[in-house]
Amino acid sequence: MTYEHIQVAKMTAPLGAEISGVDLSKPLEEPVRDEIARAMLDHLVVFFRGQDITVDDHFRFACGFGDLYTHPIFQPLKDQGRPEIFELQSDAKRPFVAALWHTDITFEPDPPKASVLRAIEVPEAGGDTMWASMEAAYDGLSDTMQHLLSGLSAIHQPSYFYQLANDEQRKRFDDRGDVIHPVVRTHPVSGRKAIFVNGAFTSQIVGMKEKESEKVLAFLYEHIDSSEFHCRFHWTKNAIAMWDNQNTQHRVVADDPTARRVMQRLTLAGDKPF
Ligand code: SIN
Repeated sequence: MTYEHIQVAKMTAPLGAEISGVDLSKPLEEPVRDEIARAMLDHLVVFFRGQDITVDDHFRFACGFGDLYTHPIFQPLKDQGRPEIFELQSDAKRPFVAALWHTDITFEPDPPKASVLRAIEVPEAGGDTMWASMEAAYDGLSDTMQHLLSGLSAIHQPSYFYQLANDEQRKRFDDRGDVIHPVVRTHPVSGRKAIFVNGAFTSQIVGMKEKESEKVLAFLYEHIDSSEFHCRFHWTKNAIAMWDNQNTQHRVVADDPTARRVMQRLTLAGDKPF
């Protein structure tokens, strides 16, 4: 299907598209917003370059696609008076926090459906982010493996966020017990199936012995690491990425852990995976 209001340049066969012809410093007309939503459904992650916008513009843009979600641990950006926005800073003292393949915050019963990340400061070279299509990864499995995985569910835990949590936040994690999601989830809009386990937050496949679960998860993590499922984005200042968190994973390429890199993120609330 073609687009009338935006230009969409596809990046790789499974995912990623760069959108141009849009100025995010202004409110979006509904037909433009609808086409961006369609591009995201088609390409799973979309990118915009050269968007010299304010924090308020970032909020207005993200709110056009759903309700905002507040991260359970990360501190909100200072002086904004809004809990939903946070900053990810890395430099010589603070290494990248997201260098491992992950889907955001799957330790929540209703994991976020999308994120909108904006580059504030970028290194001269490197610090790219990669995304992987969990739909393409699922499609790349045999019918037998798809069938096996489709009957399984897995436990997700806050893992390293648990160490960062204060007593109150820990109590909230403890009180709600195990968070269990299907190993293969169905996209609520497209109906497409995607692998939904990740190396950051999935701890165990339900009903398997520990060794069996470890091997199956290790197989899946190796499988999703295949480059034919990926796209890679080289950040420039004021570039924005918006990704579907229901059918993708992402990771920062930590090629220069000392380089200064500052990003601001808003996250959109999601539903219980099925
Ligand atoms: C994230 O995992 O949201 C951060 C990705 C990035 O900094 O590129």
